[in-house]
Amino acid sequence: MEPLNLALECAREAGALLLEYFGRHLAFEEKSRRADLVTVADRASEALIVERIRKASPHATIVGEESGVHAGSSTERWFIDPLDGTTNFAHTYPLFCVSIGCEIGGELVAGVVFAPKLGELYAAERGSGARLGDEPIRVSDVERVADALLCTGFTPAEFAINMPHFQALSGVAHAVRRDGAAALDLAFTACGRFEAFWEFGLSPWDVAAGSLIVREAGGAVTAADGGAFDPYCRSILATNGKVHGEMRELLSRQPSPLPIARPQL
Ligand code: IPD
Ligand code: CA
Ligand code: CA
Repeated sequence: MEPLNLALECAREAGALLLEYFGRHLAFEEKSRRADLVTVADRASEALIVERIRKASPHATIVGEESGVHAGSSTERWFIDPLDGTTNFAHTYPLFCVSIGCEIGGELVAGVVFAPKLGELYAAERGSGARLGDEPIRVSDVERVADALLCTGFTPAEFAINMPHFQALSGVAHAVRRDGAAALDLAFTACGRFEAFWEFGLSPWDVAAGSLIVREAGGAVTAADGGAFDPYCRSILATNGKVHGEMRELLSRQPSPLPIARPQL
């Protein structure tokens, strides 16, 4: 099966599963640190996706947030965030999604972000553009940060690192949102709701799918310092392209954030 079709199938099924758990005020556990939550829904969604991909593509490597690396022998590699926005989900805030990205030979080829509570399914295939449902999507045409709606993200532990940037950009843009689901923040940038999104401490499953969707929607994606982006580079600056240089410049005026350690896979 083509990677995009497999990703779509997995995301739809996992999204439906998440909706069965949503609103039930599930018990949650904390993972590596305070307020890093995981629920039974995260684990069930990941188990479903991993099983589906394993069956359809037995030689692929699968990198899942909850179950780690399932090593394979081919250059096909899948990045799975079975529930991005777990804190939102656990508190019945409807901004959460499933994020599935596929890389072949080191290049992202397919990405799907599905927000089941919003009924929004974002997809992109390398070289074929991006869409929301059946409609092609494009980044916005806004040219100046002064006219922009921005988004950022940080965990409670990383607040101090991003606070100067959040404050500085809030003083320039119309507003800076912090929605709590990085993959969805990227999808919202791809469809023109945000002009830019940045974050300093992300993992490959947060950004693989969304970064391809932004690029295929005509946007630009780099590391937050303007360097080359790859799913393991931890930080991200994703924009409509037009405000990328200005965003980069505004972010660089703030103290350089320390690299944020995330699990190395
Ligand atoms: C988190 C969310 C959040 C971002 C964190 C991520 P999770 O993912 O995307 O917006 O600020 O860095 O870890 O834990 O909900 O999958
Ligand atoms: Ca995530
Ligand atoms: Ca997650």
